[in-house]
Amino acid sequence: MSASNMDVIVSLSKRRGFIFQSSEIYGGTGSCWDYGPLGVELKNNIKRVWWRDFVQNRDDMVGLDASILMHAMVWKASGHVDHFTDPMVDCRECKHRFRADQIDAMDWIHYCPATKGNKFTIKAAEPCKHCGARRTLCPSCGKGELTAPRQFNLMFKTFMGPVEEDAAVTYLRPETAQGIFVNFDNVLQSTRRKLPFGIAQIGKAFRNEITPGNFIFRSREFEQMEIEFFVNPHERVDGRPADEAWHDRWIADCQAWFSRYGVSADHVKLHEHGQDELAHYSKRTVDLLYKFPMGWSELMGIANRTDFDLKQHSKFSGKSLTYFDEERKEHLVPFVIEPSAGVDRALLAFLLDAYEEEEVRGEKRVVLRFHPELAPIKIAVLPLLKKRSEIVTTCHDLRRRLARRWLTLYDDTAAIGRLYRRQDEVGTPYCVTVDVKTVGDAEKGETGDGKVTIRERDTMQQIRVPIAELETVFAKLLDAGQPWSEVAAAYPRAEG
Ligand code: GAP
Repeated sequence: MSASNMDVIVSLSKRRGFIFQSSEIYGGTGSCWDYGPLGVELKNNIKRVWWRDFVQNRDDMVGLDASILMHAMVWKASGHVDHFTDPMVDCRECKHRFRADQIDAMDWIHYCPATKGNKFTIKAAEPCKHCGARRTLCPSCGKGELTAPRQFNLMFKTFMGPVEEDAAVTYLRPETAQGIFVNFDNVLQSTRRKLPFGIAQIGKAFRNEITPGNFIFRSREFEQMEIEFFVNPHERVDGRPADEAWHDRWIADCQAWFSRYGVSADHVKLHEHGQDELAHYSKRTVDLLYKFPMGWSELMGIANRTDFDLKQHSKFSGKSLTYFDEERKEHLVPFVIEPSAGVDRALLAFLLDAYEEEEVRGEKRVVLRFHPELAPIKIAVLPLLKKRSEIVTTCHDLRRRLARRWLTLYDDTAAIGRLYRRQDEVGTPYCVTVDVKTVGDAEKGETGDGKVTIRERDTMQQIRVPIAELETVFAKLLDAGQPWSEVAAAYPRAEG
């Protein structure tokens, strides 16, 4: 069974230290989340592989880390001050606030006049089956009239400097992208790049969402992994305008990236924005949708932003943001392809896709089948008997050695079966067990064989490996990505 229910993932995340509600001891915010000891490892791993695959391993990409607080004019030029709004309605009775464009997709409370005012919860967009009425009042309390829609800007306002005056107003960035556009010329001049090339950035973004929800799917503080890929609009690639060809390449690359790290192809599909959905800057946008428990929803977007942003910043700053095309001997404004992913949404998709419940020897086993590169803990070192000091000492020595290269944990707080289950539940791909045979028994004059058991999470197979070969084995499995079946074939099986 996979995780079709978000509650299962929310509960596992809290119980095992992946994700906690922000400020929980004060009742929580409901719109911001804290990543616990395992969550921060998982999140860092996602960002690390994304940066490695899309920045370090490519010769047409560079990175950037721009500040969160920027000049207020950035947001005027980008269109965020005027356009980054959602229509909002309020309930006059319970004061609940809703996005006007999402209200019809919500289940609604109805006090039915045909049943003496009995209260019913009716499915979204459906009429009451007793009186035939459709929703007109507040979907949450079922009593209050709703206000007319008003535009609500999603940016968090703040003040730069000690005086709270209009001239000091600025905003927490609602996307990392603008930090890239305003640095376009700095990067171009300092790196002497030729088109096409891209600038990537990972960082926090803030949006005062009207209706945050679905766990970390929509929050008010989140992280983005964004790329602005600059292309020469006059060039042709694969017989097509360069921006169009590169757009398709990036869509394919992003899809392949999620699949490479374990997201099932059946759980991802493309959504082409219709004309009415396109942002004001976009020529074409394609979203990658993921099959979240609440339905198909946006995992990331890949937009063709044309030359909109560079031209706007050039207009508002008075600085030229152009590229000199040597071949045509002319200055041009590059077009931009923007693959933009949310770290938190990616993490939620990886968690949901990794989750599995199965029955093993009559007992439920919960396992997170994370790709080893994403797994928070790579190796757990476990003692079969914690009363035997030689076993425990050997475990600590091994943990120290392995931890220099891979995140390795020692645990002796339960019997071995339970320790394995705990590691399965947090997605640790390998457990190393030290037992009596490893260390021998000095009192009986028996020397140990110097071998330990490695157990693999998905197959639950176990092999017996000399301690001296452990690092070589894990380098094959965790660094070179060699399949377990190949590596395990060189060693004798151990009893489960
Ligand atoms: N620069 C383009 C841009 O920001 P977007 O579609 O608004 O485009 C990109 O956001 C991605 O950021 C989304 O696909 C999603 O993964 C993530 N994202 C946006 N708003 C979010 C929120 N409130 N909570 C969590 N992630 C969010």
